[in-house]
Amino acid sequence: MKNALVILAHPNFAESRGNQALIEAIQTLPSVKIQNLYEQYPNWQIDVPVEQELLRHHDLIVLQYPLQWYSVPPLLKKWMDDVLTYGFAFGTDGISLQGKELMPVVTAGGTSDMYIAGGAVNFTISEFLRPIQQTAHYCGITYKTPFVVHGLLPKALAASGTITDEQLLKESKRYQHLLQEYIAS
Ligand SMILES: Cc1cc2nc3c(=O)[nH]c(=O)nc-3n(C[C@H](O)[C@H](O)[C@H](O)COP(=O)(O)O)c2cc1C
Repeated sequence: MKNALVILAHPNFAESRGNQALIEAIQTLPSVKIQNLYEQYPNWQIDVPVEQELLRHHDLIVLQYPLQWYSVPPLLKKWMDDVLTYGFAFGTDGISLQGKELMPVVTAGGTSDMYIAGGAVNFTISEFLRPIQQTAHYCGITYKTPFVVHGLLPKALAASGTITDEQLLKESKRYQHLLQEYIAS
């Protein structure tokens, strides 16, 4: 039996559609701990020992966030900078994360057909996730296939590719099953 730590980084979770739906689907799962960074650290003063202790005690690290300018929201970047330190995550004696697994869970406004060479966005989500993939590798963590939900456009921009409530529910269940299976493995 394994456990999972979900590092949730949404700058405006109260207004979220996608991430709220995903969190609702997993929040009552046993062995899943959700750490909501923007709620926990409104002043951005991350408690590094607390975060490192959480990481130490979990097998799977999920980084869940809305894609922002093809990257992570700023507090998640700060979390990485502050928490993944020399001597903890890498370097001499920095072996605390070795053998763990990491899965990005990303929501995007753009539809999947945009994220393709020659498409509106030109690059795949996997390409935009390379810094996270390599960070995991550098820390001795196994990188798992990202879980991506597309078409989460704001109401004002909603277009034909916008994900329906039905599709979003299906994706949320898929996320739930993925974590359930991981925990049971
Ligand atoms: C500052 C900002 C930057 C964004 N950049 C991107 C982007 O680079 N690519 C994209 O597909 N969507 C982008 N979006 C859209 C968000 O990814 C989308 O609103 C979010 O994933 C929806 O999830 P939610 O319903 O949980 O808020 C951006 C949104 C904001 C506010």
